[in-house]
Amino acid sequence: FFHLCLIPLFIILVLLSHAAPCVQVFPPVNFTLTVSALAQVLLHWKPNPAQEQNNSTIRYDVRILSPVPEEYDTKRTHSVRTAALHNGFSACVRTLLLQEGLQISSDWVKGELPPLPGAAETSVTNLSCVTHVTIPGNVSLHCTWLPGQGAPEDTKYFLFYRYETHTEECHSYIKDEWNRNIECRFSSTQIKPGEIDKLIVIHINGSSKRAAIKPFQQLFNQNAIEKVNVPRNISISLEQNDLLATWEKPISPFNKECFEYEFYLINLKSGNKQILKISSNSFRLRIDVTSRYSVRMRANHNHICCARGFWSDWSEVISVGQNKLENSITWVFTLLCVFVFCTFLLVAIICKINHLWSRLFPPIPMPSNKFRDLFPVDYERARTCTSSTETEVSSLAEGVPCSILEDSVF
Ligand SMILES: *[C@@H]1O[C@H](CO)[C@@H](O)[C@H](O)[C@H]1NC(C)=O
Ligand SMILES: *[C@@H]1O[C@H](CO)[C@@H](O)[C@H](O)[C@H]1NC(C)=O
Ligand SMILES: *[C@@H]1O[C@H](CO)[C@@H](O)[C@H](O)[C@H]1NC(C)=O
Ligand SMILES: *[C@@H]1O[C@H](CO)[C@@H](O)[C@H](O)[C@H]1NC(C)=O
Ligand SMILES: *[C@@H]1O[C@H](CO)[C@@H](O)[C@H](O)[C@H]1NC(C)=O
Ligand SMILES: *[C@@H]1O[C@H](CO)[C@@H](O)[C@H](O)[C@H]1NC(C)=O
Ligand SMILES: *[C@@H]1O[C@H](CO)[C@@H](O)[C@H](O)[C@H]1NC(C)=O
Repeated sequence: FFHLCLIPLFIILVLLSHAAPCVQVFPPVNFTLTVSALAQVLLHWKPNPAQEQNNSTIRYDVRILSPVPEEYDTKRTHSVRTAALHNGFSACVRTLLLQEGLQISSDWVKGELPPLPGAAETSVTNLSCVTHVTIPGNVSLHCTWLPGQGAPEDTKYFLFYRYETHTEECHSYIKDEWNRNIECRFSSTQIKPGEIDKLIVIHINGSSKRAAIKPFQQLFNQNAIEKVNVPRNISISLEQNDLLATWEKPISPFNKECFEYEFYLINLKSGNKQILKISSNSFRLRIDVTSRYSVRMRANHNHICCARGFWSDWSEVISVGQNKLENSITWVFTLLCVFVFCTFLLVAIICKINHLWSRLFPPIPMPSNKFRDLFPVDYERARTCTSSTETEVSSLAEGVPCSILEDSVF
């Protein structure tokens, strides 16, 4: 029985003794981490000189531990990674031997970059950035941040962006009440507007007489921080009971399949609001034809071509349709006004005539004098007007026509 038990053990020992000489896998040597650009690290190692390579494939397993865990394997002996390095960087690498369908790995070797130096809480916080494709096709960049809680009042922050191999410092800052930079604008950058998922690296360091300012780095997907342009050439029309809308995609290197739109419709009569999500460049909507509508639109990337960005601004408001009810009320009101005014005028004229009539008839029974007597009344009034504004009238009345009047009357 005891001997039977030993059989499997014996088999294992035989296998091991047989396998051991062929399965010598040594870890790589001289593993180094080098900062090759802002927020970029070059991982580099050498094959172990003791490693025999006959008839086997050698690969390397790379495991990034921080700041963002990641694992991959490569045939090469170097690798470039983009990562925020302000809190340090650490990674491991090991040799992988692939022989006759068998995969054998070595021990890990570890490499580390220390955190960037600086006092706690002096780094900027709440960094946010927005890009925008300007009309000539350039990309602008705008970033805002808050000074660290522990940053002295004399802290001066400096912002750098890196895109591919291009690194540039900001020269146009906006300051807070302590004169610390808290905002930066690049009106034109080397960012290529048509690229997909490329990273924009932001690096903000600083200086102060009272403390070492710890740098801060953040990576942004260029598509995810793009504020999309407003849709163009929006045209709205009415066709029977339908509202028809057509428009052009915003200014962008992406084609029209890459956009979606929000259509904001307000019924001005009922006050009802509707937001419609639309993925084409036109649409038709049944509306209440007795109402007037106000329409606005905005655009964003859909997820088909690239990451969603920030919604564009709303377009200018376009009004369409007519408020039939409101219009008829206005119409009736206007008619009423005109009618009241006319009536009033008529009454006034009748009163005036009646008054004259009553004044004219009793003293002068002869109808032939009726029209002549009208003039002295007017003439007297003209002459008695002495205010400066009416001097022209009185002077006119006192001039030639006056004498003619006098002649004709008397
Ligand atoms: C690999 O080849 C070398 C000679 O090039 C030989 O000495 C060694 O035994 C071989 N190792 C294996 C595991 O085949
Ligand atoms: C590793 O580095 C040491 C010292 O920097 C050097 O002497 C050695 O040759 C390197 N090894 C390899 C395999 O390059
Ligand atoms: C590799 O394996 C082949 C057979 O598969 C053999 O003929 C050859 O000699 C081997 N080469 C080395 C370097 O061991
Ligand atoms: C800054 O960010 C923190 C957490 O990310 C948030 O709680 C805080 O409200 C932000 N402050 C401002 C002023 O936006
Ligand atoms: C747009 O970018 C080009 C170079 O890429 C530059 O020459 C030009 O001045 C920029 N235009 C504006 C308006 O910034
Ligand atoms: C800030 O970072 C840039 C880019 O790495 C560097 O050239 C500059 O010397 C740094 N400034 C300070 C004050 O640390
Ligand atoms: C917008 O309309 C104008 C004039 O109707 C036209 O010249 C222009 O090409 C249109 N733009 C687009 C993007 O279709």
